[in-house]
Amino acid sequence: MKNISTYIENNKDRFINELIELLKVPSVSADSAYKDDVLKTSEIVKTRLEEAGCDHVEICKTDGHPIVYGEKIIDKSLPTVLVYGHYDVQPADPIELWTSPPFEPVIKTTETHPEGAIFARGACDDKGQMYMHVKAMEFMTKNNELPCNVKFMIEGEEEVGSVNLATFVKNNHEKLKNDVILISDTGMIAKDVPSITTGLRGLSYVEVEVTGPNRDLHSGLYGGAVANPINILTKMIASLHDENNHITIPGFYDRVEELSTEERAQMAKAPFNLDNYKKALDIDAVYGEAGYTTNERNSIRPTLDVNGIWGGYTGEGAKTVIASKAFAKISMRLVPNQDWKEITELFQKHFENIAPEAVTVKVKPHHGGQGYVTPIDSIGYQAASKAYTDTFGQTPIPQRSGGSIPIVSLFEDELQSKTILMGFGLDSDAIHSPNEHFGIWNYLKGIETIPMFYKHFTALFKK
Ligand code: BES
Ligand code: MN
Ligand code: MN
Repeated sequence: MKNISTYIENNKDRFINELIELLKVPSVSADSAYKDDVLKTSEIVKTRLEEAGCDHVEICKTDGHPIVYGEKIIDKSLPTVLVYGHYDVQPADPIELWTSPPFEPVIKTTETHPEGAIFARGACDDKGQMYMHVKAMEFMTKNNELPCNVKFMIEGEEEVGSVNLATFVKNNHEKLKNDVILISDTGMIAKDVPSITTGLRGLSYVEVEVTGPNRDLHSGLYGGAVANPINILTKMIASLHDENNHITIPGFYDRVEELSTEERAQMAKAPFNLDNYKKALDIDAVYGEAGYTTNERNSIRPTLDVNGIWGGYTGEGAKTVIASKAFAKISMRLVPNQDWKEITELFQKHFENIAPEAVTVKVKPHHGGQGYVTPIDSIGYQAASKAYTDTFGQTPIPQRSGGSIPIVSLFEDELQSKTILMGFGLDSDAIHSPNEHFGIWNYLKGIETIPMFYKHFTALFKK
């Protein structure tokens, strides 16, 4: 595949402009106000897959946002790569913190991206990374370089838990049959440190409600005599970690797999600079579970975090009030072997247990999913490793990520195939945050590397 660099060089402006067009449509899956935009985005993805050389593309309706499915089967005796990605994006708020509007993509340079990065919601997560696969496909079909069969499954509900995709996968085993699943929806260590994601954390997401008195009360007339739900909620939340930042829910760590000293030593070899890490976040110190490094805390260890908390008066000025209710949204990131449903139950039981008699507590489970780890001796991993070696000139490092793509473990259970996570984003790309962006260098590097994966995978598969 000598001409891939030339092909990218000749077409890169178009590749960038096509992605910009895709980013202009606000496909926010969580907010029903954007339903039509989500639908419109699925139609654009369909057209782009057809243009890229898929023989058959369809929009598959679900009980929620649709799934775009496309394929090109060239020879049944050859292996099949199933590409998964998502065209939905996170809500853009807080909008006022964006330096340019989230759905009006612009190219700006940053310290990490001197050649420019596209700023828009979804630029990296996951429209930009998903679209690399569409353009890699275009290159392969237009240049007679497609070595195997390809299927695309691009969904519109990843950011809201992939509930309908799970049903789709369960009902379509034959359609989705494949030899490897390829996803670009993660990151890599740095532009000069390529890495392949070998693990994802699981997730349990719950909402809690603490109710005290039957109405909001005057905080002078009643203060001190009745339970204040906000005081109680914050106290309960604080008790979920001990002084070593271990989680106090009984049974929480029972299934957590401890890594061997060798595995931890291997992990510690990945380049990491604590000073730069702190500087990038404007913090004076890191914080976390005693006995583990920063990289361990955010990948191989489970966590519990409040994602939002509300109640009482938060408007202008002061209002003296004891609220009737207080709320919080809490996520637990889980590691392989922890079962998200079991953890959700443990949380619920514990949270109800620690509530004082003066309040009532409700725990409402949201979505969740299992973690994932993949071995590095599979032909999929080996093919990815060779692909990065071709285009980065060095062997990529295996790295377990802290993020979650819950559907990946379901793919393994339902379709019996391994997932390879070839991510090209950087931690500094601000996914889910204001000013999300995706480096143009990373985008083009992804388009260059993906066809190499196809080539190596097909060769290793035939052996
Ligand atoms: N692409 C991310 C997950 C990710 C990002 C994994 C970077 C590894 C590195 C995905 O879109 C995402 O945001 N997942 C959610 C979970 C989902 C159920 C909402 C997450 O991790 O919070
Ligand atoms: Mn994503
Ligand atoms: Mn995301």
